[in-house]
Amino acid sequence: MAEFTLPKNSKIGKGKTVKADGASNVKKFSVYRWNPDDGQNPRMDTFEVDMDNCGPMVLDALIKIKNEMDSTLTFRRSCREGICGSCAMNIDGTNTLACTKAIDDVKGEVKITPLPHREVVKDLVPDLNDFYAQYASIKPWMETQSTTPEKERLQSVEDRAKLDGLYECILCACCSTSCPSYWWNGDKYLGPAILLQAYRWLIDSRDENTGERLDDLEDPFRLYRCHTIMNCANACPKGLNPAKAIAEIKIMMAERHG
Ligand code: SF4
Ligand code: SF4
Ligand code: FES
Repeated sequence: MAEFTLPKNSKIGKGKTVKADGASNVKKFSVYRWNPDDGQNPRMDTFEVDMDNCGPMVLDALIKIKNEMDSTLTFRRSCREGICGSCAMNIDGTNTLACTKAIDDVKGEVKITPLPHREVVKDLVPDLNDFYAQYASIKPWMETQSTTPEKERLQSVEDRAKLDGLYECILCACCSTSCPSYWWNGDKYLGPAILLQAYRWLIDSRDENTGERLDDLEDPFRLYRCHTIMNCANACPKGLNPAKAIAEIKIMMAERHG
């Protein structure tokens, strides 16, 4: 897989090396560091981690580094099992989740940088405010006009199955920040994650606002900047295919005008 470009505020210098004294089984982690408050350029710090006393995942190593070597290291994490999406970062050139990425999968030094082409808040924390605002813009909730049923809005087994491959998205942004179209037009193009979510509501049989949802996407930038480069599907740690969802939206658009 291609090596993705680094975060936006990057003119990277070499940082410190922190050794694991007395350890015989050591793995090096080269980690992007940037603190907006210290006036320094970004740098790559190297941490030598004692693998005989470390869990198997990259997130385990980051937590060990923070607990035992440098408490200022900053990263997001919550569930540590691939559900919350908060530990997304670029590991060994690929956007992925630190909690599900095995250290043994990386040969040699483990290079860790924030998700690419985003402003950095600090260290491995990217600024995803725009991403979340774009998510809100597609109205990720059920919209209805018909009378609310007494109990629930029913859905057939077949219609429910149409949400498979979509509802599993954890909004980690690994796909969008690997998409060249989103890198260059991220202020206008919604990008793969948000379009996958848009499709999730477009094909939900219970939603009654399909026309308006399609109207909102009918724009030269919001939908049509996808050039089927497929980085998104390759990057998704949940095995989803945003490019396919985007293609389905384009088909819905074409049928509408057909
Ligand atoms: S297929 Fe479309 S959304 Fe996915 S990476 Fe390529 S341009 Fe981006
Ligand atoms: S489609 Fe995959 S990579 Fe993209 S936000 Fe959802 S889970 Fe993350
Ligand atoms: S910590 Fe939740 S997905 Fe990694």
